[in-house]
Amino acid sequence: MQNVLEIVTWYKNNLRDLPWRSTNDPYKIWLSEIILQQTQVNQGLKYYYAFIEQYPDIQSLANADEQEVLKLWQGLGYYSRARNLLKTAKLVADKYHGIFPNSMEEILKLPGIGQYTASAILSFAYNLPYPALDGNVFRVISRLYNIRLPINEQKNRSVFLDILNEMIQGVDPAQFNNAMMELGAMVCKPDNPKCDICPVSTFCQAKELGCASQLPVKAAKAAKKKRYFNFFYIKYQDGFYLIKRNESDIWQNLFQLPMIETNTEVDISDVFTMLQEVVQLLWKELLVSGAHDLCYLNSKKHLLTHQEINARFFEINMKEKPTFKLENCIWVNADSKQNYPLPILIEKFLLSL
Ligand code: ADE
Repeated sequence: MQNVLEIVTWYKNNLRDLPWRSTNDPYKIWLSEIILQQTQVNQGLKYYYAFIEQYPDIQSLANADEQEVLKLWQGLGYYSRARNLLKTAKLVADKYHGIFPNSMEEILKLPGIGQYTASAILSFAYNLPYPALDGNVFRVISRLYNIRLPINEQKNRSVFLDILNEMIQGVDPAQFNNAMMELGAMVCKPDNPKCDICPVSTFCQAKELGCASQLPVKAAKAAKKKRYFNFFYIKYQDGFYLIKRNESDIWQNLFQLPMIETNTEVDISDVFTMLQEVVQLLWKELLVSGAHDLCYLNSKKHLLTHQEINARFFEINMKEKPTFKLENCIWVNADSKQNYPLPILIEKFLLSL
């Protein structure tokens, strides 16, 4: 197809030199794609380099422990990606002798790998003709062909894939997928697309109709669930408590400050009473240890994909080092806290002190 040749030629002349583009090592390609799933290239690059340095191959990653991987992942969010990264590394090391499978069927069995990532690995590492349909590519195709179907509805995927499957025939699959993503990222941008430098503007229906800014169409999403977290920074000198999250909820296996969740935003003045009622043990121990008054520090709203976290931070300044033990609770100091993976909300709070 003429438009494909234009796109690939444009790519060859304009590509960004990104480290995962000059390799066909499936480990590096897989790692880059997992990092880039919900992360911009600029932010993803430093994580990519850090992972490659610490775990140069899949076997070294397979030997890592989860806490260490979560720590290296800290700041990227969507921590299930990091947990699945480790699970997949172990599976590939054990079941596939360290060699990434090269069939769609086998790759899709690996944790954290869906249709997009599988296609990216198969095309970039093994040069197989699977179109990689990510957000950038959805946007390019919606505009080129004026497709007004919501791109966040699973049932519409096949419409886009049918077009891409036709486009990818007869060209180099890795180059094609890279070119489509690059066009979406650098030219066919969500806002203010650069149609004047687009290699396929003469083929583009949205350009002709002047409706590029309305595309792609997305169906309205459900409202985010609101949650109210009251965090307690229980400190003595440079030490404080961290507690491990292990329920099946957000931030699984990360560490946070001890916390009480409420269904609504309770008055700050009620929080101490609540602490007393809800956490009897902690309260008694705090009194015995001679805590200062509870002091409200600040609030922060933190948005996740499906949740709005309304966080409030309270400080309890201890007069002596507390000795009480709470389940999953550890006492850390400025140095040892580096070893524990924290949600970025908590990391930023601690940095702001
Ligand atoms: N976004 C997701 N995958 C990418 C890749 N391989 N290159 C650039 N951006 C990407």
